[in-house]
Amino acid sequence: VLDDYLNWERYLIRSEVDLPEEYQYQGRLYRLAPADRLYIAGMGGSGVVGDLIRDLSFVWGWPFEAVVVKDYFFRGGDGLMLAVSYSGNTVETITAAAAALRRGMPVIAITTGGKLAEMGIPTIKVPKASAPRAALPQMLTAALWTLRKIYGVNFDTPSSLPYDERLADRLVKTLGARPTIVAPVSMQGLAYRVKNEANENAKLDPSVEVLPEAHHNWIEGASGPIMAMTSPDIPAEHRTRVRLTVDLLSGEVFEVPMTVGGILTFLKHVGIATVKIALARGIDPLKTPRIDELKRRLP
Ligand code: PA5
Repeated sequence: VLDDYLNWERYLIRSEVDLPEEYQYQGRLYRLAPADRLYIAGMGGSGVVGDLIRDLSFVWGWPFEAVVVKDYFFRGGDGLMLAVSYSGNTVETITAAAAALRRGMPVIAITTGGKLAEMGIPTIKVPKASAPRAALPQMLTAALWTLRKIYGVNFDTPSSLPYDERLADRLVKTLGARPTIVAPVSMQGLAYRVKNEANENAKLDPSVEVLPEAHHNWIEGASGPIMAMTSPDIPAEHRTRVRLTVDLLSGEVFEVPMTVGGILTFLKHVGIATVKIALARGIDPLKTPRIDELKRRLP
């Protein structure tokens, strides 16, 4: 998994994806046209694609409302859905995709295979990695190229994701202390991904607090170490909220450009740092026995 993170740039999709303008599914016609609402369904390491698209669409003012779906149940209407599942077998994602199709909503799958790839809907197959969370570059860029094709959105395609040992070491120290990760709404997806990596790779349990809401409750109870996330690209109101938090409570500040290159470069370091923490604790970063056992126990 360390090798995957170190070589993330190799997995970036750098060219347009092939998608039809319309397709038939169970006798019904679905058109892949721009819709005001974009639903992105997916769980865990695949679900983060939706979280990051929501961050990016907010920061760069993309022409749709990004709605993240992390459940079996889907009751939305009028939109377009991306269903992202690394394995293609995650029951919540498949169930949500089927519900969207029943509601007449076009669905596009992003996966390495599994049941999702066999549904008979437009599918972008991405290369495998050592774990779903390590396949973020290919899943995220597959989703972004899909959005370029349908909505014409612009995004950067980084030529490299340079590694900085000092940043990785800082992250080892900061995340190893099980911090509260504090981020504004515009960076919420990024903050959750950091938490999830600490959960799955390092088997640690940091938490996330989102601003400005956390200034109306959490701030009074806050006691442990703080990892604060900010960016030159987010609104001034959000940057001020992060700065005031650190002024009051202190904390380690990480500044991340909210570009595809900036996000993936930072998350590459988070991946490497959480693997390093796992190895230092004598834990296998790849194994997720509780997640596997839960999936086994589901009906
Ligand atoms: O990183 C992981 O292994 C998990 O978070 C999975 O991504 C999650 O359980 C969903 O599975 P999948 O990505 O195959 O849809």
